[in-house]
Amino acid sequence: MKIMNKDFLTIKNLDTQDIKSIFSLTNDLKKDKEKFSDSLKGKSIALIFQKPSNRTRVSFEVGIFQLGGHAIYLKPEDLNLGIRESIEDISKTLSRYLDAIVVRTFSHQIVLELAKYADIAVINGLSDLLHPCQALSDVFTIQEKCGKLKGITFAYVGDGNNVCHSLMYAAAKIGMNLNIATPNKYSPKKEIIQEALDIAKKTGAVISLSNNPKDAVGDSDVIYTDVWTSMGKEKEAWKRKMAFGKFQVNKELLSLAKSSALIMHCLPAHRGQEITDEIIDGPNSIVFDQAENRLHVQKAILLALLGGIK
Ligand code: CP
Ligand code: NVA
Repeated sequence: MKIMNKDFLTIKNLDTQDIKSIFSLTNDLKKDKEKFSDSLKGKSIALIFQKPSNRTRVSFEVGIFQLGGHAIYLKPEDLNLGIRESIEDISKTLSRYLDAIVVRTFSHQIVLELAKYADIAVINGLSDLLHPCQALSDVFTIQEKCGKLKGITFAYVGDGNNVCHSLMYAAAKIGMNLNIATPNKYSPKKEIIQEALDIAKKTGAVISLSNNPKDAVGDSDVIYTDVWTSMGKEKEAWKRKMAFGKFQVNKELLSLAKSSALIMHCLPAHRGQEITDEIIDGPNSIVFDQAENRLHVQKAILLALLGGIK
């Protein structure tokens, strides 16, 4: 079964059918942990991480183990990407040892360059531009909780960042409606808005953008937020805290939403900033189910790229 091409760098490159196939495989994997337990036997996968991580690192390492493969974690100073040697030389060397690379880095260009020179699969484990493993898992979680994706309205409140960008592609591809509310200066990238709108025209997804969180949450079934200051932007933290004040997901904002609206956050959360304790710990919060699904969806991604499933 062929689901993906060589790499998984962005949801933009997946067909709607690819997404459905990955979700169906995820359901199988989630039901039976032993399923495909030998699929990655003899395969080695490196995790090249230039930023900290809890969920992405641990869920990939555990997922690779559960599929019978071997994970090698490489911290920033191990490879010293692009400084000790070029990305091209690193990609070509690692291609002789490994079967895949999961990379978490700053500039998205580094992800593209690694994939360009590597003969093996490259998976984007977060760049400054995109976080596709996250968004794919998130959409799976919504389908699991709501029983459908078409007809669901999803609100994203906060920074128009990497997570927001990947959610835009995911919603557009799957035909889910998306209301985005960000401060004016922190809206998603123009090219990504345009691409998502173009995809949405074909799938029927309605994507709206505003600078008012109250507009976004009103008719939404799911409300999502992420940190105001992403990794790598720490110097802007104070300025951002000032700009994002009215974008906090709190009791007041949620009084305008459906009482059934589910709450999502990719985590790590900065409690008391983008979301309050009572909301993230409240009865509608599904943040830890969401975190768990990273494991199951990423196992499906690994199998789609490497597993040779018949
Ligand atoms: N959501 C997510 O990617 O978490 P980590 O940064 O802990 O991997
Ligand atoms: N937008 C956040 C996501 C962390 C998983 C960041 O890039 O830091």
